[in-house]
Amino acid sequence: MKRSIITMAALVAFAGTAFAADVIDMKKGVKFNHKAHSEALKDCTKCHAKAEGGKIEGFGKDFAHKKGCKQCHVEMKKGPTSCKDCHK
Ligand code: HEC
Ligand code: HEC
Ligand code: HEC
Repeated sequence: MKRSIITMAALVAFAGTAFAADVIDMKKGVKFNHKAHSEALKDCTKCHAKAEGGKIEGFGKDFAHKKGCKQCHVEMKKGPTSCKDCHK
């Protein structure tokens, strides 16, 4: 625990202006850049039920692969759609 806090502090320092919560670490090596997505998409309700955001009900593998993440990348023809581009 202590080690990961130190690592996060180091990452934040390295990223300069970024805050830790700008990038959410997900399972199997997925790094979700929440800040970049919010800025690129400009609409919180593209992903959240409400504009103020919060936990997404049912978030997990099926959500990510079938609707939440990959589906949007396919539709917009932007963002990764292959396993290794999301799972580093
Ligand atoms: C591209 C999709 C996407 C967009 C756009 C987006 N978010 Fe999120 N957001 C997520 C995901 C995925 C999570 C993690 C959800 C989870 O773990 O249940 C999250 C988490 C959050 C959380 C933290 C929830 C918690 O308690 O851990 C907040 C607050 C939040 N978003 C607010 C916003 C706001 C405000 C906006 C618009 C400025 C926004 N989000 C835009 C996908 C998005
Ligand atoms: C509503 C549309 C939408 C949703 C939902 C969405 N993305 Fe994206 N994603 C994009 C777009 C658009 C880009 C390209 C942004 C750019 O090139 O500036 C992108 C880029 C990315 C990238 C590559 C660039 C980066 O930010 O690292 C990753 C990785 C990524 N998305 C992961 C995810 C994950 C994981 C989720 C689900 C938790 C998700 N995305 C949900 C639209 C979306
Ligand atoms: C658009 C990004 C994206 C793509 C493309 C993608 N995944 Fe995922 N995957 C995710 C996210 C996000 C999760 C959920 C992470 C979480 O629950 O924290 C996930 C979850 C998983 C899990 C479950 C991990 C667990 O422990 O629950 C497996 C296994 C997996 N993906 C394999 C794959 C394989 C194999 C492919 C290619 C066929 C693939 N993924 C393509 C983003 C992606």
